[in-house]
Amino acid sequence: MMNLPEESLIVIENLCKSFSDDGSVLKNVSINIKKGDLVSIIGPSGCGKSTLLRCLNCLELIDSGRLKVGDVELKRDRPDREPDEAMLDAAHKIRGKVGMVFQGYNNLFPHKTVLQNVTLAPVVVKKMSSEAARELAMRQLEKVGLADHAGKYPSTLSGGESQRVAIARALAMNPQVMLYDEPTSALDPERVGEVLQVMKDLDDEGMTQIIVTHEMQFARDASDYIVFLDKGEIVEYDHGDVLFTHPGNPRTRDFLRRFTGIGMAAAC
Ligand SMILES: Nc1ncnc2c1ncn2[C@@H]1O[C@H](COP(=O)(O)OP(=O)(O)OP(=O)(O)O)[C@@H](O)[C@H]1O
Ligand SMILES: [Mg+2]
Repeated sequence: MMNLPEESLIVIENLCKSFSDDGSVLKNVSINIKKGDLVSIIGPSGCGKSTLLRCLNCLELIDSGRLKVGDVELKRDRPDREPDEAMLDAAHKIRGKVGMVFQGYNNLFPHKTVLQNVTLAPVVVKKMSSEAARELAMRQLEKVGLADHAGKYPSTLSGGESQRVAIARALAMNPQVMLYDEPTSALDPERVGEVLQVMKDLDDEGMTQIIVTHEMQFARDASDYIVFLDKGEIVEYDHGDVLFTHPGNPRTRDFLRRFTGIGMAAAC
């Protein structure tokens, strides 16, 4: 079921994270993800899904374990010691390889146009010329179907359009992996499909993507693998069809029954 580390773009090994002494939020999480895979993470509220994405993006530093994205590796075995230079350097490099889109649709800078939102980081962080950044941004906006919205301001966009701009903005930094934290949960139902379609298109192009989602049908149809996380542990990790029709663990069955009604047969 797990891929061999050699062929994995992302390796997460025995990742542990807690925010206080009261308890661990993530407990020995291990997953390997191949280049081009689309992996959905599902699980109850508070189980650690966002924390896992934030650790992967090094917005949170792991307490212990190993994290590898492409050729950059971050290892930590002594949470009681301050992170050393090598760790901080690896975290910085990993951040540069990972694009992230958050829940909600107010991620964009409101006083900048759609185009300026997408060109900002390539110009400021990558020191790209404004002409090159413009060309790059227009290519990304075309990819998400919003080239004709380039001159608009975020307040005039729908929620779905804003999320697609947020995806274009992340893509403009040429990430090796895209992370999404419930990217459609704040959208009107009729705008959800357009955002999910962008992820499917990126999957067809070979982008590696990890999505925390409550869109169970999407997770089942579009994912190479689904991770079921509960209480900070990976309970199951399998193909959507297997996980939804033959969940191997009673906790997965309970979750699917409560959230989707799927898995009833398997639970009986
Ligand atoms: N910065 C933080 N400081 C303290 N505790 C935190 C912090 N971030 C998360 N937690 C705690 O860690 C646990 C997991 O939170 P997390 O946001 O990862 O859950 P989640 O699975 O994303 O939930 P949801 O589905 O509601 O978004 C929760 O108990 C939360 O209160
Ligand atoms: Mg969350």
